[in-house]
Amino acid sequence: MAIATTPVTLKIQRFNPDTDKEPYWREYTIQAKPGMTVLEALFEVLNKYDGTLSFRFCCRGAICGACSMMIGGKIRLACETQVSAIKKRPLMISPMPHKKVIKDLVVDMDPFFEQMRSIKPYLVAKEPFPEKEIYQSEKDRAKLTEPIDCILCGSCSSACTVAWWDPNYIGPASLTKAYRFVVDSRDTIRDERLDMVDSEDGVWRCHTIFNCVDVCPKKINQTDAIQYLKRQLVKRKIGLL
Ligand code: F3S
Repeated sequence: MAIATTPVTLKIQRFNPDTDKEPYWREYTIQAKPGMTVLEALFEVLNKYDGTLSFRFCCRGAICGACSMMIGGKIRLACETQVSAIKKRPLMISPMPHKKVIKDLVVDMDPFFEQMRSIKPYLVAKEPFPEKEIYQSEKDRAKLTEPIDCILCGSCSSACTVAWWDPNYIGPASLTKAYRFVVDSRDTIRDERLDMVDSEDGVWRCHTIFNCVDVCPKKINQTDAIQYLKRQLVKRKIGLL
């Protein structure tokens, strides 16, 4: 039995810096199968209508964070967003906002990862390292459950309007990563980590706008994490830590 399909028009922002002066929109009408994701719809366009369309993807399972883009007016992962979940037509698709466009839906993530590197996003454990894993109580492990879900998609930093006008702002993803190690009982450089985020472009630049929380595909509360870091800095300043 043939699967019933529905015609859906996608309106995709296109831009090739080698040939275009500025971005423009192009419409493609595809036959959407039930359950089809936006990523699958993009492949439909790529394979049937325009082989020059560029977009990023990798895991197709909301784990790698590569396919984050603006879909139907909100930043979402293309691989976990079903075409039918967005009611407005045409279905608008454009690159993540306020990131340099490399081509079509592909943005430059280098500044995002540079910011991430600036906060030492790795565990600095006490040496010598034990033969087996470093013990951590269930209670301490529970503190990491939410922040370690981050898939580095960059949605939060792209949605943060403070990051739009301050390119030096460390940003919600990196600050949440800093938080993830500050609360890790196995880490040994807590003070140094707090120093790293204690600046105008660090936690104090966050105006608790909450856009980051709104778009996070993993439902991480970056604002809470940033507020925690602020509280720790204040406590340290007045000698309560
Ligand atoms: Fe930006 Fe989120 Fe703070 S949107 S200002 S990092 S609460």
